[in-house]
Amino acid sequence: MIIYKNEDEIRAIRRSNQIVAKVLDELRTMIKPGVQTKKLDEYAEKRAREMGAVPAFKGYRGYPASLCTSINEEIVHGIPSSRALHEGDIISLDFGVVCDGYYGDAAVTYPVGEVTSEAKKIIETAKEAFYKGLGQMREGCRISDISFAIQSYVESQGFSVIRSFVGHGVGFFLHEDPQVPNFGQPGRGPKIKRGMVLAIEPMIAMGDWNVEILADSWTAVTKDRSLSAHYEHTAAVTQEGTKILSLLDEKESLQSLKESRYA
Ligand code: MF3
Ligand code: CO
Repeated sequence: MIIYKNEDEIRAIRRSNQIVAKVLDELRTMIKPGVQTKKLDEYAEKRAREMGAVPAFKGYRGYPASLCTSINEEIVHGIPSSRALHEGDIISLDFGVVCDGYYGDAAVTYPVGEVTSEAKKIIETAKEAFYKGLGQMREGCRISDISFAIQSYVESQGFSVIRSFVGHGVGFFLHEDPQVPNFGQPGRGPKIKRGMVLAIEPMIAMGDWNVEILADSWTAVTKDRSLSAHYEHTAAVTQEGTKILSLLDEKESLQSLKESRYA
């Protein structure tokens, strides 16, 4: 069942997403050779709590941390640990919070120091794939138009799309209907309507799209161990059109967001 949100609810979901965006932006400055991924996790949790939110992933189906830190061939759900980043790595950070009962969810892939031109290209392609998908998130389209736009673009760049993980509705819960696959034929699935809030999250690979889950039962890696990148935002179809809720608004202080919760 798809839960449509009114404008007040979308505003509340946006506040949670602004906290996610702020944390992901702050984490960018910590991405350096030598930093342990558990330090990123500790920082993300601390900052979310300071801003009045609670990490959404911790304890979700038993996930043991607040942040997902997926390095190189790791696609998603990498568990923070004492592993240190190395120059030339790429790291996907996926973060979610709940604030006043509303969920935010976003992910980004960052380079660690200088990376190869191929690594830069896969990072850019995941981001651009998100925007290609977002372009189809408007009234008159169907969910799989998003999927098709993402797959077509990613494959045109010589990369593949991961099949085992999908985007999703989000807002009252972390994962709501509908599922938003990153591949498929256009013109299928639910119609896109005002009030829909979706996390669109392409995960792509340099090699083929087969996935393996590591012994920790969370970390998803490419079977061929080729590089993978992830990019995700939460977006809403509002009366003024489609808006990304997890894009950091630099003009608006988090303090003012926090105060507006009680306005
Ligand atoms: N953004 C990821 C998703 O939507 C977050 C995974 S949540 C976890 O699936 F708790 F399972 F890690
Ligand atoms: Co998500």
